Amino acid sequence: MTLRKIASTHHNRFLQERTNHKPTHVAPLSLLRPLDDEIQNQRSLRQSSLEASLRKSIGEPYFSDSGFTLYNGDSLKLLEGLLAGGLQWDLTITSPPYNIGKEYEQPLPLEDYIRWCSNWMGLIHRMTSNQGSFWLNVGYLEVPAKGLSVPIPYLLWDKSPFYLLQEIVWAYGAGVSSRRRLSPRNEKWLFYAKDSQNYTFNLDDIRDPNVKYPNQKKDGKFRCNPLGKNPSDVWEFPKVTTGKDRSSKERTGHPAQFPLAVVERIVRASSNTLDLVFDPFAGSCSAGIAACGSGRRFLGFEIREDYCELAVIRFKSFLTEQRAVSDQTPLF
Ligand SMILES: C[S@@+](CC[C@H](N)C(=O)[O-])C[C@H]1O[C@@H](n2cnc3c(N)ncnc32)[C@H](O)[C@@H]1O
Repeated sequence: MTLRKIASTHHNRFLQERTNHKPTHVAPLSLLRPLDDEIQNQRSLRQSSLEASLRKSIGEPYFSDSGFTLYNGDSLKLLEGLLAGGLQWDLTITSPPYNIGKEYEQPLPLEDYIRWCSNWMGLIHRMTSNQGSFWLNVGYLEVPAKGLSVPIPYLLWDKSPFYLLQEIVWAYGAGVSSRRRLSPRNEKWLFYAKDSQNYTFNLDDIRDPNVKYPNQKKDGKFRCNPLGKNPSDVWEFPKVTTGKDRSSKERTGHPAQFPLAVVERIVRASSNTLDLVFDPFAGSCSAGIAACGSGRRFLGFEIREDYCELAVIRFKSFLTEQRAVSDQTPLF
């Protein structure tokens, strides 16, 4: 009897290649794969028209190339500037400041922080396409006299007009050690849609091939989808490693960088080729690299010029590595 294979390379190149990810590349191989010429042409056309419309409403970008456009400025102001232009994007992936005094934020009184988040989330909702979605990554903050590590989703989950589909637990493994409580090892992703019934969700593109009993049958039929199982609402992705001799090539100098594998899963699930992906708190632009490497387009806002500079250097190395992989890929 031939045993069935789950997620063969033929069926699911994304997951197959993701398992080969070596931290010696600036990105997982699934993002470095060369894009179709037709997709690249279409993307340049759409990017030119996006740039023209952005210039009219919010001025010159800090950088724009190969489907990746970055503005250096305050996201709320830039979003307000965009309102009248009629621009829409399909997917927002973001992690805002958590109001905990990190080097890139000015902590606000809690009520002001919640109001500020509600303002920018409301503007994003207005500029999201009908089948679009919003993925919000947040951690914990202290609420004086109430709680030490209060999950930010408890404070923000209903503070925008988006419809909350679910919460995903991102378990990242290593982290700081606590002595008088349990060491924190997860953050959350809130997955929202603009329309509760009609939203992009490409489950087959993110199926998990790690199936325990792929040959199990019921009534003569295989129980499990040949592409693999639904990856569930608990995701295990390590943080990007840092430190002498351990640092991944993916690592930049940004202190809160997303692992590309996490954002790639979101991009592939919640957008289609050539769609526009937005991050109002772009940092090192991980969402931008995951978007462009998957044949989507990206628009990012980032308030700190040094992070913009770092993100552009990162994107250029990504393009260089993508070209190198493309040169090594046989045509037939
Ligand atoms: C949690 S980090 C995002 C990191 C990003 N996901 C990555 O992979 O690198 C939040 C980012 O928001 C930026 N930021 C803070 N306030 C901002 C504002 N008002 N407008 C735009 N960006 C802001 C910070 O400088 C920081 O880079």
